[in-house]
Amino acid sequence: MKHKKNIDKVKPYKPGKPVEELKREKGLRLVYKMASNELPFSPAYVKKAVLKELKNINRYPESSCFYLRSKLARKLGVKADSLVFGNGSDELITLVLKAFIEKGDEVITAFPSFLVYQIQAQIFGAKVTKVPLKDYSYNLDEIAKKVTPKTKIIFIANPDNPTGTYLSQEKVNRFLKKIPAEVLLFFDEAYFEFAPSDFPRSLKMLKQRKNMIVTRTFSKAYGLAGLRIGYGVTDPEIAGLLNKIREPFNVNRLAQVAAEAALDNKGFVREMVKFTNREKNLIYQALDALGLFYIRSYTNFILVDLGSDTSSLYNYMLSNGVIIRELKGWGLNNLFRITIGTSTQNKKFIKLLIDYVSNEA
Ligand SMILES: Cc1ncc(COP(=O)(O)O)c(C=O)c1O
Repeated sequence: MKHKKNIDKVKPYKPGKPVEELKREKGLRLVYKMASNELPFSPAYVKKAVLKELKNINRYPESSCFYLRSKLARKLGVKADSLVFGNGSDELITLVLKAFIEKGDEVITAFPSFLVYQIQAQIFGAKVTKVPLKDYSYNLDEIAKKVTPKTKIIFIANPDNPTGTYLSQEKVNRFLKKIPAEVLLFFDEAYFEFAPSDFPRSLKMLKQRKNMIVTRTFSKAYGLAGLRIGYGVTDPEIAGLLNKIREPFNVNRLAQVAAEAALDNKGFVREMVKFTNREKNLIYQALDALGLFYIRSYTNFILVDLGSDTSSLYNYMLSNGVIIRELKGWGLNNLFRITIGTSTQNKKFIKLLIDYVSNEA
């Protein structure tokens, strides 16, 4: 049977080896995965809610995330019908493309940025315009210039992955004025909780612009990546459209109760952000001492320029039980990304990096 031709262009997402498999293969007792921007702690307070819900796993989940929806709407100060939940915030990317892309349509994003925009847009047959970053940040002026009558969606990761940079309210305000009202602006705020105080008040911006969606996730600062739950906030008409086309049971029972428990907890996220920033500073100090260039990050990871191909560093780290993220998928051979881990994990990463760089010198 013939498949869609545009799938041939897609470079698939490459997941890492399972940690247990790596332990067996390399004969390691401990492996630290510092490659996927996950939180290094599993939130204990969520476990109780999840365990309690296990007795209901024979039943389909609540299709509309009813209880979670009203709790989150109250917390964010938005209307319940402006929310769309997804199997991770990734699913919102797919839903938006599914709802809006027709033959010949274009989407714009930056390069390098989160690869899922490009991969999914290609699958849906859109022409993807990638605008290079400027000083490791989205070049909004250039993106605005690339808008054509065929542009349907602009994807913006704020803060960005893999750079960790962010766009301020001021920059975004200027950008909004230049973008035609018919274009859907997709603000992906997966790392929202780590962002600083002049970060855009995007939920407020939604009041002024209909064609806009803001997505956030429970995968990062909340520590629930394994359960897969994220959400979008948008105009109720757009939310209605996305809710109409999503799978009826796209968010599982355990994810829903875990997210509810996460919203009830006041201190965990704050504590995690504080911890992450403290540990980030320790890694910055080590990188400074080694004379390695890095980007100051407003997320839970750091982008580092090794100054030479990262393959041998990657293998050295791997054989010592630390998984870092190379950027070869983006075609960037000298850069790597390190996710902030526990204090022990970060210390081990720093020690290995120092050993590697001193041996190379
Ligand atoms: C910018 C960005 N958006 C979205 C996601 C996906 O998050 P989720 O786990 O909610 O699907 C990630 C995950 O790494 C990300 O970096």
